[in-house]
Amino acid sequence: MAKNFDVVVIGAGPGGYIAAIRAAQLGMSVACIDAWKTSEGKPAPGGTCTNVGCIPSKALLQSSEHFEQVNHHFSEHGIEVKGASLKLGTMLGRKDSVVKQNNEGILFLLKKNKVTYFNGTGSFVAKVDGGWSLKVSGDKEEDLVAKNVVVATGSAPRELPGLPFDEKKVLSNDGALRIEGVPKKLGVIGAGVIGLELGSVWRRLGAEVTVLEAMPDFLPVADQAVAKEALKVFTKQGLNIQTGVKIGEVKTTAKSITVPYTDSKGEEQSISVERLIVSIGRVPHTEGLGVDTVGLKLDERGFVVVDEDCRTNLPNVWAVGDVVRGPMLAHKAEEEGVAVAERIAGQHGHVNFDTIPNVIYTSPEIAWVGKTEQQLKKEGVQYNTGSFPFMANGRARALGDTTGFVKILADAKSDEVLGVHIIGPSASELISEAVTIMEFRGAAEDIARICHAHPTLSESMKEAALAVDKRALNF
Ligand code: FAD
Ligand code: NAI
Repeated sequence: MAKNFDVVVIGAGPGGYIAAIRAAQLGMSVACIDAWKTSEGKPAPGGTCTNVGCIPSKALLQSSEHFEQVNHHFSEHGIEVKGASLKLGTMLGRKDSVVKQNNEGILFLLKKNKVTYFNGTGSFVAKVDGGWSLKVSGDKEEDLVAKNVVVATGSAPRELPGLPFDEKKVLSNDGALRIEGVPKKLGVIGAGVIGLELGSVWRRLGAEVTVLEAMPDFLPVADQAVAKEALKVFTKQGLNIQTGVKIGEVKTTAKSITVPYTDSKGEEQSISVERLIVSIGRVPHTEGLGVDTVGLKLDERGFVVVDEDCRTNLPNVWAVGDVVRGPMLAHKAEEEGVAVAERIAGQHGHVNFDTIPNVIYTSPEIAWVGKTEQQLKKEGVQYNTGSFPFMANGRARALGDTTGFVKILADAKSDEVLGVHIIGPSASELISEAVTIMEFRGAAEDIARICHAHPTLSESMKEAALAVDKRALNF
């Protein structure tokens, strides 16, 4: 006998589990199906983000940064630590326990909100009276009928053609988060977010890291002033970043991996490494969902086709997160999950794609929201710009972390903030002031007139806003 629900969410990543909780808060009967299991076979909700993405990468970024600080920066503070050594097993174990706490937290939240959770693969069976017939396949088989379905099946790492991931030598983000010994030489293909974050982790732990990027420019999606500063700093830290390369045929032997490539000058080069991280983007995941059974429309790249409200081509079937267009970010997936649950309940959920922040959790961190200077130029928008370096910020000097700057772009006529770009300490936290201002369509002058506590890094935001009007006080 099938179990009936108002809403069934397929996938318990940040898009899915948040949609399920919001729908339950709005009084609907909700189930959430997710296939992820721990290595011990226990349910592991949270998706890519919790299991092999945001959370474990940030745990390792934190741990490896401590190692970097103790080895290279504590002495500046008068603290001499001799013979600091790495217990990689403990570090990886801590990361695993952080993940576990998050899995358990999500299970608790689903229960607290009376969401019925099924650990297994969810698939469409047919359109039936009263909604959609779905099947859960796993340790236990279940038949469900849903009035509304939310597809939140996420994404998977993209392979380099002819080079499948074995997670031992050729690593996706999954294997790259659990290398058992620090490799002497590590190759990374793709200088995007994963390449830079995980490349930084293993460099800090002692690997010699070479990052090979196809695009001629470094971080073309970021403001070019930020990208230029980032390339300078990362290179100084020891990341060997090569842009404008063309990867040749990668050869794997028992001992090493050889990556031949043509460099930006057209010369043939090659690296030989112990491990290779391939981080060249991600692809939408719809395998096992029964897309063809019900005619769920995908685009040519495999994304579920949705309108701006996340409606698919099928009645009462919605899709959110990495499996649909837009940035592949956990907070974007969450916002869409909430908005869809509210729309199902007859409310007017909304996601503002213009104010979704981007963060790269390297050291220094990089964060931005809104338009880059190169975008404004291309669009012919008249703008003013104001920058403030952390070097001139008292708190940054006290922290001993003065790399980078805040840059604000504001409309030349109205002074409305159009973009904010930060490279520097705690950029990930500082950016939320910019998001708030932009969400309220505030002006640079609004930031400049707001009282910011002293001494804080956030004063750099105020000073950059003052600099838009050429009246910074401390620079
Ligand atoms: P997912 O998190 O991928 O979840 C989908 C879930 O659906 C999975 O659990 C999957 O098992 C399940 N599933 C799929 N098909 C089925 C099925 N048929 N039946 C049942 N279950 C199914 N984003 C950020 O915003 N900040 C970060 O710091 C960040 N760091 C990242 C670091 C790495 C290394 C990676 C790889 C990604 C990172 N991301 C980050 C991106 C972020 O993880 C994704 O944008 C986010 O997880 C997308 O959420 P989602 O709910 O759409 O999909
Ligand atoms: P990405 O899109 O950030 O970067 C991929 C890079 O690989 C690009 O620079 C691209 O030009 C390059 N590339 C593609 N094909 C190549 C080839 N054949 N040879 C060399 N270079 C090639 O993708 P990434 O890093 O894999 O991350 C996937 C997604 O996960 C991103 O979209 C990102 O949004 C998300 N993510 C977010 C994080 C965050 O918010 N802090 C952290 C990690 C991932």
